[in-house]
Amino acid sequence: MRLADKSVVITGAGSGVGRASALLFAAEGARVVCADVRADWAAETVELVTKNGGTALAHHCDVTVESDVEAAVAAATRNFGRLDVMFNNAGVTGLKPGSTFELDTTEDFERLTTINVRGVFYGCKHAVRTFKAQGGGGVIVNTGSIAGMVGFGSVIYGATKAAINQLTRGVAIECAADDIRCNAICPGTMPLTNFIRVGDGPPPEEYLRMAAGLQPNGRYVTAEDCAAAALFLASDDARNVTGVLLPVDGGYVAR
Ligand SMILES: NC(=O)c1ccc[n+]([C@@H]2O[C@H](COP(=O)([O-])OP(=O)(O)OC[C@H]3O[C@@H](n4cnc5c(N)ncnc54)[C@H](O)[C@@H]3O)[C@@H](O)[C@H]2O)c1
Repeated sequence: MRLADKSVVITGAGSGVGRASALLFAAEGARVVCADVRADWAAETVELVTKNGGTALAHHCDVTVESDVEAAVAAATRNFGRLDVMFNNAGVTGLKPGSTFELDTTEDFERLTTINVRGVFYGCKHAVRTFKAQGGGGVIVNTGSIAGMVGFGSVIYGATKAAINQLTRGVAIECAADDIRCNAICPGTMPLTNFIRVGDGPPPEEYLRMAAGLQPNGRYVTAEDCAAAALFLASDDARNVTGVLLPVDGGYVAR
């Protein structure tokens, strides 16, 4: 029970890393606000958590809207008494099969920066305000990407994730004296989430083999791998860990 009685907000909790984290965090004793722009997906996550005996509530939240993010944090304080952990995980891909960087549009740039960067800014801002109002202490986990650490090919997406990495370090430094920790997980390729889902049904074997082959260890990354890393960073096991960008990537950035 590494998060016993902790009050947690997870954005993007309706799918992939967010859903796996909601399940794992709740199994470790946390009470979880499952925030997602897809309210139906968030509700499904809550159903799964509840089936496992955990505590969670669904909250509609578009991370590009500041008042939505503020309201998600307020849902934690109202329902669970306080906020202990903010997991800013919601994000979207810029991948357009067959397209290249010079074909990207202003709309592509706006969409990616608004969801991926502004959403994390709002999440950090309202978490820090709440932590300070509670008297200090608190944990932020952000979802960056290996694409924010090395050139990966998805240019604007990579730039948004690099921005998240720097937001993470900046918040870690500025808030360290208030005992607020801020770290990021940086996943490698996860072919099983809805992130790059093409069509219905499971991804083709050939795609899974390609995804696995990207990692030096030959294994693709799963949402559960990321949830486990996020749990460590969210828990008191990491009480002296802040400003860290933790690759969950089978060795990709070490290559
Ligand atoms: N899948 C990968 O290969 C990969 C690799 C590196 C990093 N990541 C990052 O991991 C995080 C989670 O991705 P995933 O693979 O679980 O994807 P996913 O698509 O399965 O889940 C993302 C969730 O975010 C939600 N979301 C999207 N826009 C939102 C908004 N404006 N407000 C609130 N919620 C919103 C979606 O509804 C969805 O439930 C993202 O930040 C992504 O950039 C993914």
